[in-house]
Amino acid sequence: MSNSPTQIQLIQPDDWHLHIRDGEIMKDVLADTARQFARAIIMPNLKPPVTTVDLANAYRGRIEASLQSLGVTGFTPLMTLYLTDNTSAAEVRKAKAVGVAGFKLYPAGATTNSDAGVSDIKHCYAALEAMQEVGMPLLVHGEVTSADIDIFDREAVFIDQVLEPLRKDFPGLKIVFEHITTKQAAHYVRDAQTSGKNILAATITPQHLLMNRNAIFAGGIRPHNYCLPVLKREEHRIALLEAATSASPRFFLGTDSAPHAKGAKEAACGCAGCYSAFNALGLYAEAFESVGKLDKLEGFASFYGPDFYALPRNTKKITLVKQAQSIPAELPLGDATIVPLRAGETVAWSLA
Ligand code: NCD
Ligand code: ZN
Repeated sequence: MSNSPTQIQLIQPDDWHLHIRDGEIMKDVLADTARQFARAIIMPNLKPPVTTVDLANAYRGRIEASLQSLGVTGFTPLMTLYLTDNTSAAEVRKAKAVGVAGFKLYPAGATTNSDAGVSDIKHCYAALEAMQEVGMPLLVHGEVTSADIDIFDREAVFIDQVLEPLRKDFPGLKIVFEHITTKQAAHYVRDAQTSGKNILAATITPQHLLMNRNAIFAGGIRPHNYCLPVLKREEHRIALLEAATSASPRFFLGTDSAPHAKGAKEAACGCAGCYSAFNALGLYAEAFESVGKLDKLEGFASFYGPDFYALPRNTKKITLVKQAQSIPAELPLGDATIVPLRAGETVAWSLA
């Protein structure tokens, strides 16, 4: 590959961290993802959350109906359950038996629809024991929530207070540190000694590879660049870009595309979440190209995720071309609209 190719071919990627919500708006966001990705980990933070296998099966049914109404074939949702203080070992085993891909740990109050989240990880030890035993991944929103911790420090403190003790207590538990945002998290995952192969990994979003926290305040407050965990300083963005392009199987693609209607973002108390699904692959390609590492995109986007989850890699190929794509100012979202990441601007790469 030359240093500045104008097109690249890769095995079709998957999105290992995605929010598609429910009801009327689901099909609007699902179409964007299904255009680019073969599979996606569907996050369970609905209202009420997807806490049981029965709820996950019902949600999967609604997703499949939505795909059908869009005429989409060849996209597979990978379902997850929302871990609570009351999740039982029996529910974990039942989930494993029906192919649930993971359990998501939301510390209570950490982010959108996390009120029902875990108040103290110690309450989950029976479930975690069972997850370790059956090889069920724990997907972690890695932020502490106590009011005395500065919002920009919540992820780093989580590593010391929660993640490291958890890994000591469950050395065989498969863990994905979701949407990492700091140098501390990137280095922790890179350097961790693990008891087995493919036991610890992290997803990284496009916004955290492309922007630092200045983007939230550029010339005024920019609610569409606000997500959780919040964007950090430039040194952290650089560390994340280094991790993503390092060809380490511990880092893979998870957009955390998190749709909220325009009005819910542009409000006195705006919701957290960036809608990156419209051209997520183009955004990632831009990030990798910025450090001359486009040749490392395929591993990150298409190989290391399925390897971690012990699923087959995709076989179909896609082509990305270096052709600027205009991103609309707004997109339809049910009766409302949504403002995508990069709205009104262009993304340098797009799907052929
Ligand atoms: C997500 C959402 O809106 O569901 N928001 C976000 O800012 N990332 C929740 C989450 O993943 O934290
Ligand atoms: Zn998320």
